[in-house]
Amino acid sequence: MHRVLICDEMNPGPLDYPGFHIDYIPNMPREDVLARLPEYDALITRSRTRVDLELLEAGPRLRVIGRGGVGVDNIDLEAASRRGVLVLNAPESNNVSAAELAIAHLLAAARGLTRSDAKTRAGVWDRKYLGIELKDKTLGIVGLGRIGSIVANRAQGLRMNVVAFDPYVPESNFERAGARRAATLEELLTQVDFLTVHTPLTEETDGMIGARELALLKKGAIVVNAARGNIVDERALAGALESGHLFAAGIDVFRDEPPAPDHPLLKAPNLNITAHLGANTFEAQERVGAEIVGRVLAALEGDVSRGA
Ligand code: MLT
Repeated sequence: MHRVLICDEMNPGPLDYPGFHIDYIPNMPREDVLARLPEYDALITRSRTRVDLELLEAGPRLRVIGRGGVGVDNIDLEAASRRGVLVLNAPESNNVSAAELAIAHLLAAARGLTRSDAKTRAGVWDRKYLGIELKDKTLGIVGLGRIGSIVANRAQGLRMNVVAFDPYVPESNFERAGARRAATLEELLTQVDFLTVHTPLTEETDGMIGARELALLKKGAIVVNAARGNIVDERALAGALESGHLFAAGIDVFRDEPPAPDHPLLKAPNLNITAHLGANTFEAQERVGAEIVGRVLAALEGDVSRGA
């Protein structure tokens, strides 16, 4: 009997597979995961649980880690590989939800949705605020993988012009997405009215959009980060909003989640914030649960052909 622990909140679907014992304990405290891990052959997480050396060492039976989502940046891949633990993700399931949240942030930032909401609730009926139309504006997308390509498609439905920068994908991705290719990040930054990032967090993308890059954007640009905290440097973004260089921004992710109460972005003006909700739709969670549980069970049974 293979034993599997799901320690983060998701919709795992049916748990009664012959030959497997699956425990679903959403939002399990880390101490409890560490204490119970010796019983399990596989662990399934979302982004909440940090799978580091300490956690891997706590599970001598562990053979597979499943990440219910796309990004595996909360998992120490090197330590897992040294211990012979296979890491799998669910690359297909959240993409539409994540892309739709990025579009929601573009619209919310352009029209000051949360600002107007807060003012109205505070008893201020402010109809003087002027927003920005998306139609005929240029959207810059950094990262034209699965999610970036869906954002490009939806943005064209809003009649935006799309330009993208991604040195790692073939020309056909740009053709399929209907996006003009920028040869460099600088070339992209200097021509866009809106910027959205859709790369994984790696050493290369950590802080990729910093103070220098934000300064290259036109005055009055809008920036959205629904990918990973610190791809857009958090202090630099707060500074660009404070100075009025940016019109507004939308953020779904932070380097450390949840952000500390004194985080500079929490006080920045014209910023719409959501709490890492990109994958949080009923549809995505149903698909993610089915995809990651299916992949982990197949790997435990010996089919490792679909590794991350
Ligand atoms: C992802 O990487 O797909 C998301 O961040 C998943 C999540 O919400 O945990």
